[in-house]
Amino acid sequence: MSSKTPGKAHENSTQAAEAYGWTAAHRAQKVGVVGATGATGLELLDILMAAGHKSENVRAFARRDGALRVRDTDFRVTALARADWDDCDVVFLCTPSDLSRELAPKLVAARLPVIDLSSAYRMQADVPLVVPEINGDVLTRDHLLIANPNCTTAIACLPLAVIEAVCGLAEVIVVSFQAASGAGVPGLKTLQYEMRAAAGVPAAEEKPASPFAAPLALNVIPAIADVGPDGISGEERKVIDETRRILRRPDLVVEVTTTRVPVERCHSVAVHVRTQRDFSLPDLVARMAAAPGISVTDDPHGPRPRECAGTDAVAVGRIRAGTRGKGSLCFFAVGDQIRKGASLNALQVAARLSPRAGGVRGRPA
Ligand SMILES: NC(=O)c1ccc[n+]([C@@H]2O[C@H](COP(=O)([O-])OP(=O)(O)OC[C@H]3O[C@@H](n4cnc5c(N)ncnc54)[C@H](OP(=O)(O)O)[C@@H]3O)[C@@H](O)[C@H]2O)c1
Repeated sequence: MSSKTPGKAHENSTQAAEAYGWTAAHRAQKVGVVGATGATGLELLDILMAAGHKSENVRAFARRDGALRVRDTDFRVTALARADWDDCDVVFLCTPSDLSRELAPKLVAARLPVIDLSSAYRMQADVPLVVPEINGDVLTRDHLLIANPNCTTAIACLPLAVIEAVCGLAEVIVVSFQAASGAGVPGLKTLQYEMRAAAGVPAAEEKPASPFAAPLALNVIPAIADVGPDGISGEERKVIDETRRILRRPDLVVEVTTTRVPVERCHSVAVHVRTQRDFSLPDLVARMAAAPGISVTDDPHGPRPRECAGTDAVAVGRIRAGTRGKGSLCFFAVGDQIRKGASLNALQVAARLSPRAGGVRGRPA
């Protein structure tokens, strides 16, 4: 599998920082991570460490005071109620939407740049929704509030953006296979508990409160999030709306069915498209392989979530002409939804903002 955006195993922090655009000036910033104990918060700390960010320049917040350890580094966790925002230069909200809605306006009013990983602001017209490889141009270096996309959307959109550029998209049909950790730490713990129970391993801990609509072990649950009166689930609506926004195609036909599968990490999507213009398949595959953030595999049974866990690129495989005539195309893509679908994308966004450290209370003088 070729990859231009390297996976987690960078030779050293200089290489990782370069890959993510996280310069020495960005590393000098005091970075606030709200929701540091959650799936995306922990991953962001891991990525920051990999990119050479010093732990003393990280401020970790959660519900309560505590401690955590990432990459052999200890972090103090401060209760959000006691957060000192004057001690931060940029803040990542790795938090549920309602908390992001409460915090973001206060932080922006204090002129702090905020990258929000929740869905709270993704469809707000004056807030950019950014996957840097696709629409990084909508971002100015001085934006204060930026929305990070839905994880399935980010993963599907990277290859879709290549097709859009080569031959124009006419219609997109997506079926997702989403990992348990897409529902955060509670989702992952629930799957692990249920898998042990299914294997007859005696439980060492109490049964966690499940975020899922049904048992997930040995199962597939159609429709992620509540289903609306139109029959479309909350997650499906996000993928439809955000795909149109990121690709700047409000007119695009997008049909989505989401499913939750008993996989710990990495979302997969089976995508069937119809294009506006005819294409040469080898040329399209070559363009896909050359695109930033994408790796292409010719494994007839790949890519697979288990092997993609912890990597940065969205892996695309099974690229083939469809049977619906000219302009018909199918592919399968897998991405680590906690990295490119969340925390890595968020860091890449922050890397495009002007570094703030060294100004008046961390803001430019
Ligand atoms: N997981 C993914 O794959 C993924 C992908 C893309 C986007 N997202 C989005 O990213 C956000 C975070 O998701 P996650 O998966 O990281 O969730 P998670 O594992 O459940 O973690 C949630 C974090 O938020 C903190 N938190 C919640 N309520 C709080 C409150 N009232 N005060 C202070 N801290 C509070 C939790 O702290 P405590 O530990 O103290 O409770 C925890 O650190 C969500 O909006 C989610 O939709 C997630």
